[in-house]
Amino acid sequence: MRKEDFELLSKILKERSGLVLSEDKIYLLESRLTPIARKKGMETLDDLINEVRLRRKEDLLSEITDAMTTNESFFFRDNTPFDLFREDVLPGLLQSRASSKRLRIWCAAASTGQEPYSLAIILSELEAKLSGWKIDIVGTDLSRSVLDKARAGIYSQFEVQRGLPIKLLMKYFTQAGEMWQISEKIRKMVTYKPFNLLDSFAALGTFDVIFCRNVLIYFHQDTKAQVLDRLRRQLPADGTLFLGAAETVLGLSDKFKPVPGKRGMYVTADHADQVRKAG
Ligand SMILES: C[S@@+](CC[C@H](N)C(=O)[O-])C[C@H]1O[C@@H](n2cnc3c(N)ncnc32)[C@H](O)[C@@H]1O
Repeated sequence: MRKEDFELLSKILKERSGLVLSEDKIYLLESRLTPIARKKGMETLDDLINEVRLRRKEDLLSEITDAMTTNESFFFRDNTPFDLFREDVLPGLLQSRASSKRLRIWCAAASTGQEPYSLAIILSELEAKLSGWKIDIVGTDLSRSVLDKARAGIYSQFEVQRGLPIKLLMKYFTQAGEMWQISEKIRKMVTYKPFNLLDSFAALGTFDVIFCRNVLIYFHQDTKAQVLDRLRRQLPADGTLFLGAAETVLGLSDKFKPVPGKRGMYVTADHADQVRKAG
């Protein structure tokens, strides 16, 4: 791929999704975009790039951006954030929100749904305690194709074997040929919407807990910092943010503080200050 073609595509990707591509990822551009060129009846990737350069059609740019996202996800990924959610965050929220009985959770890079469904399963397991509560789980992602899969809730044997305890597989999934579909009850607990983290969050409302995991790693430092600062505005002072194992707020945002000993969990700086003053 020519340098100017790489520069054109990486500029488009950064503007549209925040994704930063280094030159050593040219192979990724080639392997993911060549099938799009073929599908459109073009002979080579160069033809696709020429089309982009000449017309910049919205549909094509969106298809290219979608193809360049990395959508890897699995149930109860890394375990710890889900254990912390169940054992640490949820009990606190059940007390502090006892009068409204309302909880809102946002999975800000929901991909194919394993993360929001893991949370829905945790909540379903606590059904008795949550009787009378209204709980929204909102799963958003830039990629429309992953959201289609998330909504269908259909996973391969390989996907359900990654992270999902067999007991929960048996309880919440039904086998359909070689695939497994998550129960309608769990599917109905999650609302999926296409949403770009570079866009304004205002219309989404506020949340008690945000999972924004394994997406900031693909962004430039400035974009990570801006997204983190904007995420803070969607949380009340006692809200909680979960990031991926390879992500942090340190050096990027002073609006959140890591919780010592609780990997991946962040509280607002206001809350951390209050706790420090009280203690
Ligand atoms: C690796 S997956 C993470 C899935 C899940 N959170 C997890 O940790 O298993 C990253 C997701 O971020 C999405 N993504 C990338 N850029 C985005 C953006 N600007 N806005 C919203 N989602 C984005 C991708 O489409 C992809 O599905």
